[in-house]
Amino acid sequence: MDTITLNNGVTLPALGLGVYQSAPEETAAAVATALELGYRHIDTAAAYFNEKEVGEGLRRAALPRDEVFVETKVFPSDFDFEQTLHAFEKSTAKLGVEYLDLFILHQPVPDRFERTIGAYQALEKLLADGRVRAIGVSNFTRRHLDLLLAEAGVVPAVNQIELHPYFQQPDVQAAGAERGILTQAWSPIGGITFYPGPWREDRRNVMQDPVIGEIAQKHAKSPAQVMLRWGIQHGRSVIPKSTNPERIAQNLNVFDFTLDDADMERIDALDTGMRTGPDPDEPRGDFYDRPIPEA
Ligand code: A2P
Repeated sequence: MDTITLNNGVTLPALGLGVYQSAPEETAAAVATALELGYRHIDTAAAYFNEKEVGEGLRRAALPRDEVFVETKVFPSDFDFEQTLHAFEKSTAKLGVEYLDLFILHQPVPDRFERTIGAYQALEKLLADGRVRAIGVSNFTRRHLDLLLAEAGVVPAVNQIELHPYFQQPDVQAAGAERGILTQAWSPIGGITFYPGPWREDRRNVMQDPVIGEIAQKHAKSPAQVMLRWGIQHGRSVIPKSTNPERIAQNLNVFDFTLDDADMERIDALDTGMRTGPDPDEPRGDFYDRPIPEA
């Protein structure tokens, strides 16, 4: 498994298991299966409401704690300094771990940015106290990164953003690269372009894209494997979600082939510039007030 070194020297596997929209009753099995197959990175979030089941999966796999990279996110309802310190306690208790490998802000909240900063300062304290090995953000634009860095002492290690062939966010990626921030792709196989949800009605399923299909055929791989390989070859962290054992295995099986420059350029050229997920600058009101239960 390829690894990526973060800006503070911590390494993470290039590919991990995502569990957004993994139903709680399926999550423990998916995590345990992934770890048995060789995954060593799990990405969850307090607001996925499945941290306890992720913890159950970690326990079932019974690997030494330092062999698994555990990442979770604090939701805006727990933003500001004290609340975020408490959110860390809630998440670690649910996950059944003493420390986190990566703890990130789930969203910027542009109309309450001072609370976003307060939450980030709590991450900085957790890092200084050795409770987390790295800290970061998610869904930040270049402008949000600038606003954060005007106040922050620690450059985020990671910015996790919507990123698949149809929405590549080159400017956000460049903003990260200029600052030493790793871009981590959520929906790296474009699940957001086809799984059920309140998304754009005119969305197109990237899994059925003819260019991806041709490249997949050429390498005798699936479209999902081609998209993951493309992300990894670009140096990104990818966290495909699946609860299906065959697809969990398939998604890990991307280290035995290489896309050539022409393949890479053809996939790069598929960017539509149009997101399918939520715009981080759009106020989402009550959604950000959704309470995260105690452990
Ligand atoms: P499932 O859990 O039933 O496998 P993303 O991580 O890009 O958001 O994509 C997640 C979506 O893609 C889920 O709907 C997941 O469904 C599906 N999926 C995961 N792996 C594959 C694969 N290898 N081929 C096709 N669909 C996949």
